[in-house]
Amino acid sequence: RIVAVILAGGSGQRMGLSTPKQLLKIAGKAILEHTLCVFEEASDVDEILVLMNPGFLQDAADCVKKAGCTKVKAVLPGGTSRNATTQLALDALADHPAETTSVLFHDAVRPLLSQRIIGDCVAALREHKAVDVAIPSADTIIQVDDDVIVDVPRRANLRRGQTPQGFRLATIRAAYENAWQDQNFEATDDCSVVLKYLPGTPIYVVPGDEHNMKVTEPVDMFVADKLFQLASSDAPDLTEDQYAAALTGKTVVVFGAS
Ligand code: CTP
Repeated sequence: RIVAVILAGGSGQRMGLSTPKQLLKIAGKAILEHTLCVFEEASDVDEILVLMNPGFLQDAADCVKKAGCTKVKAVLPGGTSRNATTQLALDALADHPAETTSVLFHDAVRPLLSQRIIGDCVAALREHKAVDVAIPSADTIIQVDDDVIVDVPRRANLRRGQTPQGFRLATIRAAYENAWQDQNFEATDDCSVVLKYLPGTPIYVVPGDEHNMKVTEPVDMFVADKLFQLASSDAPDLTEDQYAAALTGKTVVVFGAS
């Protein structure tokens, strides 16, 4: 059984608005609503759990209604950190059998997730206990200490982590049990929790997608809006590779041409 957990507990400080960014509208719908629709459509996903910023629970319930989501089992308050929100989701899944349940944790603010990525994650979870989604980095990534470079890891070995991140329920439960024993526990995702606190667990990586962006800064609203326009019905019916080629300028696509 596959449960999708939508992590919407944040407040979107970097967006700089009083409304959390998951409730902002792009292409006529709240970001959270877009994300819910993707999981509602995914045939492999059996249940959806939404963890929302506690001050906006009713707004999340409205999104569920508008999206016509029948798979959503509950809208629950999130925690004070992303990892605390993950733990609250795990608590809510306490009655789910650890051996036959897998969970996909997804950032609510990645509304352009494709069915291909969900399918690849679910397929990988049949073989692996933990699965990440990542894309190559176009930028060189530098490691700094007090604004001074201390390392420049080889770019070819680096990936930018996205979501969903998928786990067998037993694996992610055990990793979090160990993590909370560490007073200095701090992480920005869930795979790093498994890597550090359940060492030896291989974490398989499936290819992500540049479209699966995380709406974080104001400029991301413009980019996401443009990507939704591209995906809308008046744009030519392109494959992901063709989109990528069009976006990189390798192919010229004339929109609106018949
Ligand atoms: N998230 C969460 N619970 C938290 C913090 C974050 O569920 N306490 C979720 C966010 O809602 C988002 C995802 O984790 O969908 C990725 O986090 P991020 O982009 O950092 O979101 P925010 O914390 O809302 O943004 P900011 O860091 O700018 O405040």
